Amino acid sequence: ESIRVFAPATVANVACGFDIFGFAVASPGDEVVLTRSETPGVRITDIIGDEGRLPREASRNTAGISIQKYLQHIGQPELGFEMVLNKQMPLGSGLGSSAASAVAGVFAANELLGRPLTPLQLLPFAMEGERIACGSAHADNVGPSLLGGFVVVRSYNPLDVVRIQTPASLYCTLVHPDIEVNTKDARFILKNEVSLKNTIIQMGNVAGLIAGLMTPDYDLISRSLVDVIIEPVRSILIPEFNEVKQAALDAGALGCSISGSGPSMFALSRDADVAERIGAAMQQAFLAVGITSEAYVSEI
Ligand code: HSE
Repeated sequence: ESIRVFAPATVANVACGFDIFGFAVASPGDEVVLTRSETPGVRITDIIGDEGRLPREASRNTAGISIQKYLQHIGQPELGFEMVLNKQMPLGSGLGSSAASAVAGVFAANELLGRPLTPLQLLPFAMEGERIACGSAHADNVGPSLLGGFVVVRSYNPLDVVRIQTPASLYCTLVHPDIEVNTKDARFILKNEVSLKNTIIQMGNVAGLIAGLMTPDYDLISRSLVDVIIEPVRSILIPEFNEVKQAALDAGALGCSISGSGPSMFALSRDADVAERIGAAMQQAFLAVGITSEAYVSEI
C-alpha cells in the first residue's frame, strides 16, 4: 500500500508576524511517496532534487522524524514505512522547504493508517521536523502547509493555531534569488530585546493586517505589511533588498518583505496580472547586480 502526498511551500512571518503568521502558496512544494513495509521503522529509500545534501537517516530528516514522532504518539512505533522524498524546491530558500517535507511525510503516514488524527493534531509532529532542521520548532511554515490558507499561531504554549479568512482576490508573488540563507543563522543574528516603541508599531501592524485580510480592506493590508523588528536586521543578508522591494512597490504591490528567513522575498497584490508584473520587476532588480532568480505567482 502506497500514497503520494504534495505539501506546499509557505510564506512565514508575512512582514509583521514573526513566528506567528504564515500562508500557503500553490507552488512550489514537496512530494512524498510513502509505502507500508513489513520491516519495522521508517526508511528513506531515495531523495530526489537535493543534490545529496539532506540526511538519509530518518531520525535526522525532517520528514522522517515527523513520522517517527507521530508513530510514537499513536502507540505504533513498530510499524514499517519506506519513503521517497521528492524535493521540488530549493533548500535554504525561505520558502518553508523543511516544513513542506515534514508535512507531506506525516500527512501521508496518517492517511495510510486510516486517519487516526485530524490535520490540526498532526501539527506538533511536523513541528519536530522544524526543530531538527533549524533548532526551533516554529509553526508558521508547517501550520499553513498542513492546513492551507493564512494561519495565525495565536500561542505556542499551549499550541493554538487559527485559520484566517483572506480576500477572494489576493495574489502572492514569490521571488527566490539564487543564493542561500540558513534559517539557523538568520535566527541567530536577531536581537533578543525589542523596544517598547517598536513593539507598539508592530502590534498595530499585526492587528491591522488581520483586520485588513478579514474585512477585506486592501488599503489597510497595504499599510500593515510593515516589519520594524526583523526586516531591518535580516535584510542585510539579501543583496539589493531595498531595490527589489522598491521595484515590487513601484509595480503595484500592496507590500513586500522577506519570505520566512529569506533570501526569498514575497509581495502581495490584488490582481493576477499585477502579480506577474511585480515578479518581473523584482527579478529585474536582482538581475541588475547579476543575481538570477525564480518567480512564482499564486492565488492565496
Ligand atoms: N518564522 C521563521 C523565521 C520562519 O523567520 O525564522 C523560518 O522560515
